[in-house]
Amino acid sequence: MSEMQRVRVGLGDRAYDILVGRGLMSQLGQELAVRLDGGAGRLAVVVSSPEIDALYGAAVSESLRAAGFRVETASVLPGERTKSLASVEELYAKFHTLSADRRTVVAALGGGVIGDLAGFAAATYTRGLSFVQVPTTLLAQVDSSVGGKTGVNFRNAKNLIGAFYQPHLVIIDPEMLQTLPKRETRSGLAEVIKYGIIADKDFAALLGREMPDLLSLTSSQLEYVIAHSCAIKAKVVEEDEREDGLRAILNFGHTVGHALESLTHYQTYTHGEAIALGMVSACFIGEEVSVTRPDDTAAVMGLLQTAGFWVRLDPSHSIPEIVRLLAWDKKSVGGAARFVLLEEVGRATPGHEVSGSVIANALARQQNLEN
Ligand SMILES: NC(=O)c1ccc[n+]([C@@H]2O[C@H](COP(=O)([O-])OP(=O)(O)OC[C@H]3O[C@@H](n4cnc5c(N)ncnc54)[C@H](O)[C@@H]3O)[C@@H](O)[C@H]2O)c1
Ligand SMILES: [Zn+2]
Repeated sequence: MSEMQRVRVGLGDRAYDILVGRGLMSQLGQELAVRLDGGAGRLAVVVSSPEIDALYGAAVSESLRAAGFRVETASVLPGERTKSLASVEELYAKFHTLSADRRTVVAALGGGVIGDLAGFAAATYTRGLSFVQVPTTLLAQVDSSVGGKTGVNFRNAKNLIGAFYQPHLVIIDPEMLQTLPKRETRSGLAEVIKYGIIADKDFAALLGREMPDLLSLTSSQLEYVIAHSCAIKAKVVEEDEREDGLRAILNFGHTVGHALESLTHYQTYTHGEAIALGMVSACFIGEEVSVTRPDDTAAVMGLLQTAGFWVRLDPSHSIPEIVRLLAWDKKSVGGAARFVLLEEVGRATPGHEVSGSVIANALARQQNLEN
């Protein structure tokens, strides 16, 4: 195994480690046991889906058993629909049947869907079971497993029900990405690119150089890139755990991105593809209000294109419809949408109020791009 990367998320008595390393899944039990003072006889419930369990369940369970844990598994169906109160209830039933108690640890083995769901069930069962994340998608490794947001969807509202609940440990094994469809890997890279753009110019430059090898998972920098992404998010979360201010910069590209996902009923774009387009929109909006310089917009587009993202907005999308959807975004206040805008590559600022007509101009320019 190559050098392990460690990111400490400094949240006082809820501080925890994110460990990143190829092959690390075999050390889950050992790393967890030292943090929970001992695994001996402790119940561990591994929450996963059938396909992920088939790929990695045995290795993860074996590692836990070797450290003395009594391992049980809970399986849920893959897909966003699984992030529901009905699934939470299924997990509660499983915990109850297994006589889970406050010593029990829940291990989320899967993508963001499983992490959010298992995390919420862990947060609320007996007011909190121990919780460890073993994220298996790139998006989960660099984004959803960091920051402590857990929850489920309710009716048509995404993530309406949830809790802030920090895990005791996050174990990231980039080897698990080998089985992930390429489109999902690329989708996760959109969040990685976002971190460079909003917070770290040098990181953005490194991504530009490494991009083809990151996509093919052959980059010697892969572990560093994952760990550094987690570190950037962790730093923002440390300063603003409950999203009162700074944490909003993590939503760069997400305002228009969410509108595009909603416009296309979550069928056309992966999340990363939508926010890639949304990051370009945010740059054009920033230009309209003289916050973003055109050469920075060009740099952002160039970086996204090296990863194979579209930057041109589909001309068949209705701009008035997109603007209408923005007004419903939960981050908007009193009609005018609030945007995170790019001051320069490596620095974004939240809270810019932008009118509908400014947004419409920017989106029209994005529809007229070549590409
Ligand atoms: N909590 C947060 O802060 C936060 C942040 C961002 C996103 N999210 C949530 O994350 C969810 C999306 O997560 P996601 O993109 O990981 O999607 P996902 O969990 O649905 O996983 C995507 C697909 O990949 C499959 N898969 C996962 N790992 C695999 C592997 N190693 N090999 C092969 N197939 C694999 C899954 O079975 C699934 O079909 C959304 O519900 C979103 O709301 C949460
Ligand atoms: Zn996102």
